[in-house]
Amino acid sequence: MPALETIPSLDQALIGDPLRAAWEFAACAERLGSIRGYLADIEGFALMLLARSGPGQGAVVEIGSFLGKSTAWLALGALHGGRGRVTAVDPFTGSPEHQRGGRNEEPEIVARGTTRPRFEQNLRDAGLREAVDIIEARSTDAAARWSGPIRLLFIDGDHSEEASRADFEAWLPHAAPGGLVAFHDVGVWAGVTRFYEALMADPASGVRGLFAVGSLRVVQRVA
Ligand SMILES: C[S@@+](CC[C@H](N)C(=O)[O-])C[C@H]1O[C@@H](n2cnc3c(N)ncnc32)[C@H](O)[C@@H]1O
Repeated sequence: MPALETIPSLDQALIGDPLRAAWEFAACAERLGSIRGYLADIEGFALMLLARSGPGQGAVVEIGSFLGKSTAWLALGALHGGRGRVTAVDPFTGSPEHQRGGRNEEPEIVARGTTRPRFEQNLRDAGLREAVDIIEARSTDAAARWSGPIRLLFIDGDHSEEASRADFEAWLPHAAPGGLVAFHDVGVWAGVTRFYEALMADPASGVRGLFAVGSLRVVQRVA
């Protein structure tokens, strides 16, 4: 990608800053473009910005890493911000839709029964393997063993309503005060959408909605 050059007399607020953001978006999307996955680049960019500059102190944890697309965006942000590593939680055996004959049958699952080798290779190819810790486990099992505050939790595992709720309830107690929780595929998968709508309608949920981009919904833990 060609370098970005601006001149000092350029109106920074109206032209320089949006141009820099658009350039950074395009450069990152190009760098991670070869990783297959279920994440739009603009959603990845939002995750990157949150990992780099989001509020709160603590870890960045991802539930549902698959082939590493969202992991790589998160790791890029945490790395650029000098804010630690990303922990990827996944049994790497795929969701029901990834199995043979499923809605999104995944060749890695069909051929090898696991996406972990391809996940690690994708991170190595992007120069990000050293920025990621892996917990090969189901989300709720990992949550039971987790200790320490989490400033950014990205939930993109099993999209059924029950599993979405179980993931949220297992991990929310670990969220730092003011920490963020991001859900993927809201409005795309019925289960996670029902869970998210119920969460937003619950005054005792412990979170408040912050913003949406694509199918990504970001909420913040409240006291
Ligand atoms: C939709 S894919 C994730 C996509 C990925 N975030 C991306 O950017 O492409 C869902 C992933 O969740 C994982 N998964 C399914 N059930 C899980 C569970 N109980 N705990 C953790 N991960 C789970 C699957 O193995 C699969 O890799």
